[in-house]
Amino acid sequence: MSDPKPLAGRRVLLGVTGGIAAYKTAELVRLLKKAGALVQVLMTREATRFVTPLTLGTLSEREVLVDLVPDAPNGSWTRHVHLGRWGELLVVAPLTANTMAKLAHGHCDSMLTAVYLSAACPVLVCPAMDHDMFEHPATQENLALLVRHGVHVMPPEEGELASGLVGKGRLPDPAAIFERIARMLGAAAPEDRSLAGRHVLVTAGPTVEDLDPVRFLSNRSTGTMGFAVAAEAARRGARVTLVTGPTSLETPAGVDRVDIRSADDLERAVRSVPDADLVVAAAAVADYAPVESSDRKLKKADDDLMLRLRRTPDVLAGLGASKRAGQVLVGFALETHDGLENARAKLERKNLDYIVLNDPNETGAGFGPDTNRVTLLSREGGREDFPVLPKAAVASLLLDRVSAPR
Ligand code: CTP
Repeated sequence: MSDPKPLAGRRVLLGVTGGIAAYKTAELVRLLKKAGALVQVLMTREATRFVTPLTLGTLSEREVLVDLVPDAPNGSWTRHVHLGRWGELLVVAPLTANTMAKLAHGHCDSMLTAVYLSAACPVLVCPAMDHDMFEHPATQENLALLVRHGVHVMPPEEGELASGLVGKGRLPDPAAIFERIARMLGAAAPEDRSLAGRHVLVTAGPTVEDLDPVRFLSNRSTGTMGFAVAAEAARRGARVTLVTGPTSLETPAGVDRVDIRSADDLERAVRSVPDADLVVAAAAVADYAPVESSDRKLKKADDDLMLRLRRTPDVLAGLGASKRAGQVLVGFALETHDGLENARAKLERKNLDYIVLNDPNETGAGFGPDTNRVTLLSREGGREDFPVLPKAAVASLLLDRVSAPR
């Protein structure tokens, strides 16, 4: 078995600058911590507008440092020098064009730039910006200067950029940056096979209840959260069945995908997978479907139209009623009010082991955004509030918790 903590006790300085990709560093911090590293996050002021010090401080379990001279100096103004000697590796991800220019020319106006100048350790930078900014001769010359100064560079990737343009400028995936860090520190990246031999069933996406060949009742679910859970479970070695309503997402590697449309389809598909050890029900299932659905397009009339709706089967409650010993059931609760009480009631009613509560009205949470802020409640009465994180990071944390021995 591979070493679960290949970076145990290794000291990593992580600089974060103000680009849209800054949110991805939450996942990078988590991967580093999970591998046992000690992580000191240094942020530029601008970076704190993209991801909060609270998020990165919580994940790194250390105070995040921003200003070179804090508002209330406490006699520790040589901290940058100590940190420069403490770190075994300084990583700057993402590195903006602005901070790149400062590093290349020795400017020193934040804790990050000061630590860079004091660093006695190797430095890895991950530039990320819009394609045109990256290609500008000024940026390219600054990058060449950094390389001349001995800095290691992880080049940006080609792809869709926040501006909508397509080109070179994307920050590589946190997992790829992590692997590069592990290699630089002389450790093999850990392979997590903690779910090998387990069968994980994930439901995801919306359901669609057809009224006629062109009209339907549905909801705003994009499937992102469920797909992230399926991808992470497969990465950990599980056999994964992903039952999903219509989405535009690509099937994650190593996942068996079953496409469904309605709540009735979902129930049939889930019933055909009776042997799952862990079920994560992230699908946003319609609670009602039209009593009648026409195979011909409905024609309008002069008077109002009354739609009769019937209750759909509660798939998760069905699984709860027939739960096998050792099987773990995880539900989601999307609540706009009285979240904790409603979620707890659902956990009880459906005989779940865990429920993941989120609020679609909160910034950075719910349907759509690539991030989510969730609270995990357990059958035993436990409660854990996570900060706003990329959905991939939420998926990892949830799987850590729900697959842990109880
Ligand atoms: N669920 C399900 N089958 C249904 C409805 C919901 O499996 N027919 C699952 C969802 O995947 C989710 C959880 O149950 O894991 C949500 O519970 P539910 O009580 O349906 O939540 P809401 O639909 O939000 O309920 P309410 O409208 O009463 O708030």
